[in-house]
Amino acid sequence: MNIVILAAGQGKRMKSALPKVLQTLAGKPLLQHVLATALSLQGKNAKNGPIVVVGHGATDVKDFLDLASEQDATYRKVSTALQAEQKGTGHALLQALPKLDVNEPTLVLYGDVPLTSKQTLSKLAKLADGVRGQDSALALLTQNLDKPTGYGRIVRDVDGSVKEIVEEKDATPAQKRIQEINTGIMVLPTQALKKWLKALRASNAQGEYYLTDVIAMAVKDGVPIRTAQADAEYETVGVNSRDQLAALERVHQLNQANLLMDAGVSLADPARIDIRGTLECGTDVFIDVGCVFEGCVTLASGSRIGPYCIIRNSAIGKGVIIHPYSHIDGAKVGAGSLIGPYARLRPGADLANDVHIGNFVEVKNSKIASNSKANHLAYVGDSIVGSRVNIGAGTITCNYDGVNKHQTIIEDDVFIGSDTQLVAPVRVGRGATLGAGTTLTKDAPPNQLTVSRAKQISLQWQRPVKQEKKVVAKKLTAKTQVKKVSSKKSVKAKK
Ligand code: UD1
Ligand code: MG
Repeated sequence: MNIVILAAGQGKRMKSALPKVLQTLAGKPLLQHVLATALSLQGKNAKNGPIVVVGHGATDVKDFLDLASEQDATYRKVSTALQAEQKGTGHALLQALPKLDVNEPTLVLYGDVPLTSKQTLSKLAKLADGVRGQDSALALLTQNLDKPTGYGRIVRDVDGSVKEIVEEKDATPAQKRIQEINTGIMVLPTQALKKWLKALRASNAQGEYYLTDVIAMAVKDGVPIRTAQADAEYETVGVNSRDQLAALERVHQLNQANLLMDAGVSLADPARIDIRGTLECGTDVFIDVGCVFEGCVTLASGSRIGPYCIIRNSAIGKGVIIHPYSHIDGAKVGAGSLIGPYARLRPGADLANDVHIGNFVEVKNSKIASNSKANHLAYVGDSIVGSRVNIGAGTITCNYDGVNKHQTIIEDDVFIGSDTQLVAPVRVGRGATLGAGTTLTKDAPPNQLTVSRAKQISLQWQRPVKQEKKVVAKKLTAKTQVKKVSSKKSVKAKK
């Protein structure tokens, strides 16, 4: 099946420098949602990928497509057709015509209608295919709306068959009362479409080439017209303004929350979770309010995510507890670990089982073996940490010399006293203890106490005594008091 995505419109109401189809829903451009559905509908073996009709912001849209194909090879099938001037939906589709395979039907989608499901589109495609040996048809996705204002109306004959689509601006008062609207999504027989598009005229209220005018042409040519409706209204909702985008975002997030709950995940509040990517969960996972998941995140069984955590591209192991306000990006957290509150795991943080990372601890590009702890105020960067290591409060791996990054190696069973700096490259041998306040610039041998510290001395001294200040309070004279009162009065009077 050919798929054409109309995306040349400007989207004036967004009041944005960005073309409308690149505005994001769930962290992904609107167009990417449509493309993902289109690509999965066509399947891996399709000869031609979806064709995007670009116009307004064409360079930005093409740049986005280039980037997407770099990250995901399936996007390489996507091509574009330029509509230099926006003369209507019919004119837009005309630009894609040379790329269409005439032996396949053509599905038309809009780049600003992001949430149409694959099931709904397959249903529509089947309808156009010709049910039970009937001829192939033109299939329209329609919707019944309480407030149909602004949409093209589906005009039916007395026998119920579709006669034409009339745009709001061209409709008679009686036609305006029709509640069945054109969603814009349709499947058309391509050979006939070629002929119809070339015959379009812009003789209407908007002076545009309406794609919707092909419906009457199809009726004239005896092509059967069938209609289907989407399961849910949000599937056919287009985005024109920021409030519509925000509303659709909430609908989408609630749908995702419901899917999670159906799969056995507990959410403290399904209205307060944001998934901008994919979130895979095991059984008995609990997610508290205000969490944001980005990219690819997995939460293994029994893990609990505290309120207001942000987790991106990370794998959280079984039974892990993430306390509130933790920020986790590109990390692996082993089973049974405790993280946060206020912890920060950065890319390359790789924690084995039962690791404890406490408040205000930052871990970057470091492997930490099982049962090790850094419970308070520490920076662990470019390090390899063994098992059962205790990293005291205020410990810092000084990994950066201003030019290059260096590695710190801390072997098993090391105890690092508070406020220690490990100036990398440096190694702390197995079982070593570093005294609090040590600035380690050379390797510490195993099983010994290494300490670098000014020698402690005690002196007899007298703590300074606070001197009493002699303050003479100025008393207000009767005169100044009168002055103050009168100036207040005059302020009031002015008001
Ligand atoms: C269109 C339909 C209307 C339908 C409504 C559903 C026509 C004539 N009307 O109206 O029946 O109820 O959508 O939302 O088809 N586009 C281009 N190039 C153009 C014009 C539009 O690529 O020259 C793209 C837009 O970017 C958008 C889509 O086509 O993705 C729809 O265009 P829009 O201007 O919103 O059409 P409507 O007037 O809303
Ligand atoms: Mg529109």
